[in-house]
Amino acid sequence: MIYYSIFIWSLLIITTVSKANVDFDIYGSTANGWEFVKDFLRQNIREQRDIGTSVAIYHQGNLVVDLWGGWFDRTQMKPYDNNTLQLVFSTSKGLVAVAAALCVQRGLLDYSALVTKYWPEYGNNGKENTTVADILSHRAGLPFENSSLEQSSNWEAMIHALEQLKPVWPPGTTHGYHALTYGWLAGELVRRVDPMKRTLGGFIRDEIAKPLDIEWYIGLPSEQEYRVSPIDFKSYGTFNQTLPDSYEAFNSKTTHQAEIPAANSITNARSVAKLYASLMSDLDNNKYKRLLNEEILKRATKSNTPDGELDFVIHFPTKFSMGFILLDDIFPLLGPGVFGHNGVGGSIGFAIPSKNFAFSYVMNRMDAEIAIDVDLRYKAMLNKISTIINTSTTTPSTTTDNNNNTSFHKKLSPYLLFLCSILFFYQVYL
Ligand SMILES: *[C@@H]1O[C@H](CO)[C@@H](O)[C@H](O)[C@H]1NC(C)=O
Ligand SMILES: *[C@@H]1O[C@H](CO)[C@@H](O)[C@H](O)[C@H]1NC(C)=O
Ligand SMILES: *[C@@H]1O[C@H](CO)[C@@H](O)[C@H](O)[C@H]1NC(C)=O
Ligand SMILES: *[C@@H]1O[C@H](CO)[C@@H](O)[C@H](O)[C@H]1NC(C)=O
Ligand SMILES: *[C@@H]1O[C@H](CO)[C@@H](O)[C@H](O)[C@H]1NC(C)=O
Repeated sequence: MIYYSIFIWSLLIITTVSKANVDFDIYGSTANGWEFVKDFLRQNIREQRDIGTSVAIYHQGNLVVDLWGGWFDRTQMKPYDNNTLQLVFSTSKGLVAVAAALCVQRGLLDYSALVTKYWPEYGNNGKENTTVADILSHRAGLPFENSSLEQSSNWEAMIHALEQLKPVWPPGTTHGYHALTYGWLAGELVRRVDPMKRTLGGFIRDEIAKPLDIEWYIGLPSEQEYRVSPIDFKSYGTFNQTLPDSYEAFNSKTTHQAEIPAANSITNARSVAKLYASLMSDLDNNKYKRLLNEEILKRATKSNTPDGELDFVIHFPTKFSMGFILLDDIFPLLGPGVFGHNGVGGSIGFAIPSKNFAFSYVMNRMDAEIAIDVDLRYKAMLNKISTIINTSTTTPSTTTDNNNNTSFHKKLSPYLLFLCSILFFYQVYL
């Protein structure tokens, strides 16, 4: 009897332990007709393209997909659950763009004004005529800054360093991706015009996150640290060799608590999608009020980079509005009017106002291979989605002659690879 009991207990323990290591599932909810997203997500985890991830979609003002699953980290001991938070690198820049747009809407900030109107100390060394729009659309000429990640955590020091710099090109004459400096420059503008003089993270907390009931932190409160799934750099494909150990700093508590607005915000897909959705309409049966009005949304998403203008930094044509990347060329099946921001390694948040559609995907596994073929994680999903949102839209559809059937895949590749890797390169070499 006792042997029998030991046998049963061992069996139970073994099954539980091995189950803990191989089993996972995708949790959350999907509205009718959106269940297929769950299968794509499950496949991503099963095929190890992701370790842990969350995806969310708002359509016509309602949350139609809210899913998460996989593992908190590569040890696979703890699930990636509804409570998990994720650092999203440059996807952060879209949030900063919203903060700036909100200041414009309130009449505190003017896109066409000179930066010196709000920030006099900025006006030296050839930067005198820089406009707010130049800063937001990567035309300020200050794409490089040599500070270490440690120095980057000191806001005042960064601002003083930026004030002293000479622009690499005359401000406003061309554009080039400001991988890190975008965050401090745009953030300082928000800080200067905020009547309450909060930090950028504080402004976002009170004016954006609280009213929308979302979690999107720049400067994470320390008591939330335990919820942050570590970024997994180990599988960062072709860039294995070049990643310095210091990169792990993006997983440190100190970095999470700092305000590095171009790159260190922490959130989940549900929050990112909700923010983008709130730019287009009221949400959840009018429970949440629209954040930006139509006029400000139009101005915030209007291109400020001439068609075909080469990006000075990444040597590839990119299109920026007032802080957002314009994504029509990348997602031709979804357009027109796709805007948002992605981050190195794969996270993304974007919206399509003509379809009242917002999407976000965030994850803990960085992969350059996947950055090249970013569609591996959401191409198939978005393909299917494009047919749904095209047929169900209530907005009159604009007739466009679109015989361009080039697959996402081809168009996406060079563009996203560059965007995604640039932040890394600058961290590595600076
Ligand atoms: C997930 O978290 C959100 C935000 O805290 C909450 O509103 C929602 O009910 C949770 N969903 C589940 C299934 O736990
Ligand atoms: C800024 O604009 C003024 C007026 O157009 C011009 O005189 C001045 O040279 C410009 N400064 C720089 C640094 O370009
Ligand atoms: C960054 O450092 C390099 C080499 O140390 C130097 O040449 C360059 O001027 C610096 N750039 C800035 C913007 O400080
Ligand atoms: C990156 O690391 C993975 C796993 O350690 C390895 O399979 C792959 O060959 C490495 N890539 C390069 C370019 O070294
Ligand atoms: C959806 O509509 C847009 C125009 O609004 C078009 O460019 C795109 O090709 C359509 N996508 C699909 C899958 O039909």
